[in-house]
Amino acid sequence: MTQPSRLAIVPFVSVDSMMKLVLAVGVERFLTELAAYVEEDFLRWEAFDKTPRVASHSHDGVIELMPTSDGTLYGFKYVNGHPKNMREGRQTVTAFGVLADVGSGYPMLLTEMTMLTALRTAATSAVAAKYLAPKGARTMAIIGNGAQSEFQAVAFKAIVGIDTVRLYDIDRSASEKCARNLAGLGLETVICASGQEAVEGADIITTVTADKQYATILTDNMVGSGVHINAVGGDCPGKTELHRDILLRSDIFVEYPPQTRIEGEIQQLAPDHPVTELWQVMTGKAEGRTASKQITLFDSVGFATEDFSALRYVRDKLASTGFYEELDLLADPDEPRDLFGMLLRAAKS
Ligand SMILES: NC(=O)c1ccc[n+]([C@@H]2O[C@H](COP(=O)([O-])OP(=O)(O)OC[C@H]3O[C@@H](n4cnc5c(N)ncnc54)[C@H](O)[C@@H]3O)[C@@H](O)[C@H]2O)c1
Repeated sequence: MTQPSRLAIVPFVSVDSMMKLVLAVGVERFLTELAAYVEEDFLRWEAFDKTPRVASHSHDGVIELMPTSDGTLYGFKYVNGHPKNMREGRQTVTAFGVLADVGSGYPMLLTEMTMLTALRTAATSAVAAKYLAPKGARTMAIIGNGAQSEFQAVAFKAIVGIDTVRLYDIDRSASEKCARNLAGLGLETVICASGQEAVEGADIITTVTADKQYATILTDNMVGSGVHINAVGGDCPGKTELHRDILLRSDIFVEYPPQTRIEGEIQQLAPDHPVTELWQVMTGKAEGRTASKQITLFDSVGFATEDFSALRYVRDKLASTGFYEELDLLADPDEPRDLFGMLLRAAKS
């Protein structure tokens, strides 16, 4: 067997390598540095090729491709969303992704993105909250205490200054798991018996449940004035978490309107209902929170640039940490046109 050449090799970050990388950097520092990359890319929003993600819907879930490019780098993520998976011992959301060089079209990185999606979603939520949440917010309710929940809690601690999380899940064992995992990480956790109890005294409400239906995780009476809602779980046609009346009382901030109007909470509203793009708040083109009594809502669905930022961040970390394997991914014959000859030579060897 001949050794693959240098051009054949693409760095591959397995789940094991990703976990080693996150632990070596430290979870909070990883989230904070990743959030800076996410923010940096939102600030140069106009540089990106943007398209709503390509979704293939089925009875139990969705498989999506999320591509984008800034003209120098190209990235895409494969991601699924299958709420029933959790009951079968699988993840609701799994993902992997690629970063490539636009100049040659050659992939530069192939990586797991199940962990990375949880990290980038939490980092993005926290960046949005930095601009939109009430000043001095210390308490956050987290409704839905599954795979994403601890990442959200730690990101909001590191980036927004949250010190208390009030947890609610229809399955109490999920809240207990979340509280257990957060023990010792500098957050006070309170397990609540209902969504109503969880939102009491919360400055920020994160909804991150998984259910393939129009759910009502928050009813209008649960949302007092002045809170920031970080609505993460409603991210597909026919899959929402908030009662429509909450949307009518809120100022709504979104990633990329053409995608959010299909997938976000705002699918419940008229197609021309006013929303503000998050990048415009970050660049100062639009206002974020302007009054203490205002309800701000980040209608998060997850956009390709956030994965691009995460891919970029991981790529930049590889050289100094070395947590990757070399994958023989690209055929590289001695003479570029002799691909068939490469096959014949392999048969001989
Ligand atoms: N916006 C984004 O960028 C983004 C990124 C990743 C995941 N998501 C979405 O976030 C959601 C959560 O993902 P996950 O990986 O944590 O899923 P998960 O299956 O691990 O956890 C979901 C939790 O929600 C709970 N739940 C379901 N219905 C509930 C209800 N009515 N009230 C309270 N709790 C309820 C479940 O018991 C479970 O513990 C999914 O819908 C996923 O599609 C969004």
